[in-house]
Amino acid sequence: KTGMEKAVESKFSEAMMVVVDDPQSLENKKAAIRDAGPGKLQVIVDFDATLTKYWVNGRRGQSSHNLLQQSNPEYDTKRHQLFEYYHPLEFSPTIPIEEKAKLMEEWWGKTHALLIEGGLTYDDIKKSVANATLEFRDGVVELFTYLEKRDVPVLIFSAGLGDIIEEVLRQKLHKSFKNVKIVSNRMIFDHDGHLVSFRGKTIHVLNKNEHAIDVAAPLHDQFGGIDSSTDDSDSVKKRTNVLLLGDHLGDLGMSDGLNYENRITVGFLNNDDGNSLEIYRKAFDFVYLNDAPMWGVVKLVAEIC
Ligand code: TMP
Repeated sequence: KTGMEKAVESKFSEAMMVVVDDPQSLENKKAAIRDAGPGKLQVIVDFDATLTKYWVNGRRGQSSHNLLQQSNPEYDTKRHQLFEYYHPLEFSPTIPIEEKAKLMEEWWGKTHALLIEGGLTYDDIKKSVANATLEFRDGVVELFTYLEKRDVPVLIFSAGLGDIIEEVLRQKLHKSFKNVKIVSNRMIFDHDGHLVSFRGKTIHVLNKNEHAIDVAAPLHDQFGGIDSSTDDSDSVKKRTNVLLLGDHLGDLGMSDGLNYENRITVGFLNNDDGNSLEIYRKAFDFVYLNDAPMWGVVKLVAEIC
């Protein structure tokens, strides 16, 4: 047995609670994906609270936004005040979707403006990541490693900050994966290393579907290098079987740019308010509760490719 198989057996415990609404439909999808082979599969995954833990040593794990500490702390306070106001709205099950999308756009706009106004530097990013309360879920490295061996691309699709995610991968994974790419909000720095603007249209949690086309042609590799090979986007488009991982209903829109044949979705319900499980179990094939590790997904991937 490989080390990974042993790890899966020992650490994958049913006690962590997984809910599957329709086991038969899931089995059919798994069989279809397995039969088509790894050459047809791609993985699209959200970053914050999906790849990363919701709780880290009893504290809320920080998102790519929350971990940022600018040299100018007044701006951290301002951004935190926005977080306190908007974050509960983000997960409110009662606000209609169009209204919520407007609120999210407002939040992202204000936060991006504060990062620019506060003069964020790349050096701030490196230091912030080094001090962050952030951990990948157990099993993420094994998941990426398994997929890399089978040449299955992994796209990290995040409404957070791409430059920070890149730095987190660099500092916390201690390993680079040639199959991993990022589609997210990207920063532009001036010659003095200060943030001056963001590239393109803002990605927030509820408009991922509008950016899903970028999934078919991601511009950047894991470390921000421009990937100009059109082969790559072509081959990604031909990968019509999708495994999608997210923690938000909006994450389901991440695959909208692809004309997929089979899609298995995994939702991490990190903070059940008592109303969301019913919605999540209808929306996702698997729902993981209680800040579960990634071992269940590692096991799933081993079954389908
Ligand atoms: P995700 O697409 O990787 O889940 O990232 C988006 C998360 O970022 C979302 O859950 C809200 C969070 N966020 C902050 O924590 N602070 C902010 O200022 C903004 C705009 C978003």
